[in-house]
Amino acid sequence: MNNSENVLPGSENKSNIKHVVVLGAGVVGLTTAITILESNSKRNLNYRVTILASQLHTDPKSIAYTSHWAGAHHVSHSTGTGVSAPDANSSTYTTEHPEQLTIDQETFRVMWDLSSKESDAEKCFMRIEQVEYYHEEIPIDENTGERKHHLGWYPDFKILSPSTLESSPLSLADLSVHSGVSFNTLTIDPPVYLRYLYDRFIQKGGKVVKGRVDDIKDIKGVQRVLREAIESSDDTPPPIDALINCTGLGSLTLPGVKDEAMYPLRGQTVLMRTPWVNFGRTLSKKGKDGKEDLWTYIIPRRSGDVIIGGTKSPNDFFPTPRPETTLDILRRGVRLCPELLHPPPPTASTDGTYTTITPITLTPDALDNLSDTDFLNLVEPFIIEAGCGFRPARKGGLRLEVEWIVQSETGSAPQIPLVHNYGHAGSGFQSSWGSATRAMSLLEGAL
Ligand SMILES: Cc1cc2nc3c(=O)[nH]c(=O)nc-3n(C[C@H](O)[C@H](O)[C@H](O)COP(=O)(O)OP(=O)(O)OC[C@H]3O[C@@H](n4cnc5c(N)ncnc54)[C@H](O)[C@@H]3O)c2cc1C
Ligand SMILES: *[C@@H]1O[C@H](CO)[C@@H](O)[C@H](O)[C@H]1NC(C)=O
Ligand SMILES: *[C@@H]1O[C@H](CO)[C@@H](O)[C@H](O)[C@H]1NC(C)=O
Ligand SMILES: *[C@@H]1O[C@H](CO)[C@@H](O)[C@H](O)[C@H]1NC(C)=O
Repeated sequence: MNNSENVLPGSENKSNIKHVVVLGAGVVGLTTAITILESNSKRNLNYRVTILASQLHTDPKSIAYTSHWAGAHHVSHSTGTGVSAPDANSSTYTTEHPEQLTIDQETFRVMWDLSSKESDAEKCFMRIEQVEYYHEEIPIDENTGERKHHLGWYPDFKILSPSTLESSPLSLADLSVHSGVSFNTLTIDPPVYLRYLYDRFIQKGGKVVKGRVDDIKDIKGVQRVLREAIESSDDTPPPIDALINCTGLGSLTLPGVKDEAMYPLRGQTVLMRTPWVNFGRTLSKKGKDGKEDLWTYIIPRRSGDVIIGGTKSPNDFFPTPRPETTLDILRRGVRLCPELLHPPPPTASTDGTYTTITPITLTPDALDNLSDTDFLNLVEPFIIEAGCGFRPARKGGLRLEVEWIVQSETGSAPQIPLVHNYGHAGSGFQSSWGSATRAMSLLEGAL
């Protein structure tokens, strides 16, 4: 029997519907919004979720939206010891969230499933073999007497033997490589994946509003921004029951409440078109005497594009790629991955024409000897663009926490929970699902 007529208009159902506003539409905001919305089918509560963000993935790439600039691969920085790798002992802040390792592992499992052949998200990912080289030896664990590595949990993890290192065609000695590991992981194609997340959110009934909020704690102000952005009056947004702060670095330059622990960790990259490179490779060197870590990486994407990096400079607000850094990244990248300049032999395309890209046969030494102009002329045909982004870093690590907002001075209106999920630094993609699940639990506990 339908007894809805005996109930005051909307009282029963409405009390179960909670309107949650997620601030931010980067990878963290989108993943968190999806996690909340999709919990509807599993629980009694009914969430209506609105994303409110000043920038969306469909806007032109900008320094204010970090997710566009990521590599992105899943190679955790977490050691599970409270100090993250490989920045240890450099000038960058390295404290990590106590649950960082579990957060990354949970996210890896979700993404591994999403990247399977049966998944409709398969095209967002590429499963690869990843090799990480180091200048230092891998330390021996005092308790077990064995070499212990923070990436040991990835599938097919191996510590490369000295003979493997010696027989590498890369002349690793010239690169001062003293150790290395290999394992299986995946890369994410950020533009494709962000579109996938957005579509998934909309398909499940989520709403997205474009707008800027200057003070999250001013609930009336947030409500006003939502109202003004909605054109038709029959879609007036209901009152806000909870807020989630996924603004990345966003609020750093804004007035109002500022998290002093936030700082940009600037990263510069070069995007290349080299579809024949289908493996990941990194060379990490610990910074000495407070100098920046030197760290070169090759991240292939499903699309055939490849990201070459990188840099990590704390508190560097320079918003566009520096040409001298681009040159340095390319020189380091080609040194670590000569395959970038070695396209496979020409193959016939479907229209009967041949693609011919002349392979570059110079040895690493000869490449080093080239003048900057000659070197750039050589790599130029493979380059799409140089880019840079600000990783939203935070002293003390990622912030996952609930705060209560007092709405009125008399305290008569109920307090509203504000769940923080920001400060993912260089791990926003590889931590996204794990941290969204935790933000969700915080929300459930608060409502
Ligand atoms: C060069 C480089 C390489 C990287 N490689 C990797 C990698 O390999 N793997 C990995 O996991 N991560 C990588 N990262 C890190 C990753 O890109 C970030 O951790 C991630 O993008 C952060 O996402 P976010 O959603 O927190 O922030 P963002 O993507 O910056 O999104 C912030 C959102 O908040 C909105 N916003 C901010 N302030 C306001 C406001 N006041 N009002 C309304 N809206 C607001 C913005 O408009 C935007 O929608 C890399 C980053 C860089 C720069
Ligand atoms: C940092 O350096 C100190 C002194 O050199 C050393 O004892 C410590 O183990 C280092 N920590 C890490 C995480 O490498
Ligand atoms: C929301 O997150 C930002 C980080 O982007 C932080 O600086 C800000 O203080 C947070 N807002 C509130 C109200 O705590
Ligand atoms: C590179 O330059 C050095 C110094 O000028 C020279 O000794 C070396 O032979 C050159 N190498 C190649 C491969 O051209």
